[in-house]
Amino acid sequence: MDRSGSKRVLITGAASGLGKALALKYARQGHHVAIVDLNDERGAETLVQLKLSGVDAFYQRCDVRKMEDVEQAVAATKKRWGGIDILINNAGVAAGGPFDWVSSEDWEWVMDINFFGVLRGCQASVPVMKEQGSGHLVNIASMAGLLNPPGMSNYNVSKAAVVSLSETLVAELQPWGIGVTCVCPSFFKTNLGESMRSPDKTTAAKLDKLVEGSSDLSADDIATMIYDAVEANQFLVMPHEKARQAWDFKCANLDDHLKAQHRLAQQVKDQAQPAD
Ligand SMILES: NC(=O)c1ccc[n+]([C@@H]2O[C@H](COP(=O)([O-])OP(=O)(O)OC[C@H]3O[C@@H](n4cnc5c(N)ncnc54)[C@H](O)[C@@H]3O)[C@@H](O)[C@H]2O)c1
Repeated sequence: MDRSGSKRVLITGAASGLGKALALKYARQGHHVAIVDLNDERGAETLVQLKLSGVDAFYQRCDVRKMEDVEQAVAATKKRWGGIDILINNAGVAAGGPFDWVSSEDWEWVMDINFFGVLRGCQASVPVMKEQGSGHLVNIASMAGLLNPPGMSNYNVSKAAVVSLSETLVAELQPWGIGVTCVCPSFFKTNLGESMRSPDKTTAAKLDKLVEGSSDLSADDIATMIYDAVEANQFLVMPHEKARQAWDFKCANLDDHLKAQHRLAQQVKDQAQPAD
């Protein structure tokens, strides 16, 4: 924190959706916010909104697939404000399709952004936080990484890896005064569908339908839950009630959970159509 009590926050993928909602939440609470993304146009628009809160903020282009970009984002935050209190590893993309249709390129692409992007953020910021003796990592995973629905193997694995890394680090970094929060949302409305890569042309429409039917929580609601969880040093955040119930059911009845997945698997088998 700086002398005025403002935290220094860096958010990846902050030009849109949840990252943008988090940036605005932190700015409204009086914290300094560095936003990074690939989308310069949306990044510039978000920065204008952040500055209306009167806090110090900047936008920098950063592709989380490049270690040097991520290191430069952390270095720029440290240079401007003397340290980094919260890193939110939020940048992510959508992917899916029947397992044997998904190409190695699509596996590598989604892992590179959704998992290795988070890993790079942690690698670049943990040495700074250890030196400070304080800090907090927020890793945006997904309920997909806990429930593993059929037809989304590459997305599920990328998010399960984020959960595993986060759970390891929450214990390992505790003696260094560094907290970790892992967020596992279900569907909510953002621009995530724009990034979809799938060899099955029905995947994008299915995602759109799930997102459209998911009006219970907005990106702003989830950003507030994450803000509160960081304040409370809470590890796991599962914002959606139905998803929490599904997780409890899986933990108590794994065989029944897997039987329930058969229905979804049959839909993937019956409805899949090769993309043009
Ligand atoms: N929306 C949902 O239903 C949902 C559900 C569970 C988890 N999530 C996760 O929430 C996070 C935020 O996604 P969102 O829903 O707000 O989507 P979004 O598409 O609105 O925002 C994602 C942002 O990440 C950026 N991005 C993509 N690749 C990048 C890269 N290589 N480097 C830097 N930035 C990059 C995009 O430009 C975009 O601004 C993602 O990790 C996503 O997997 C979303």
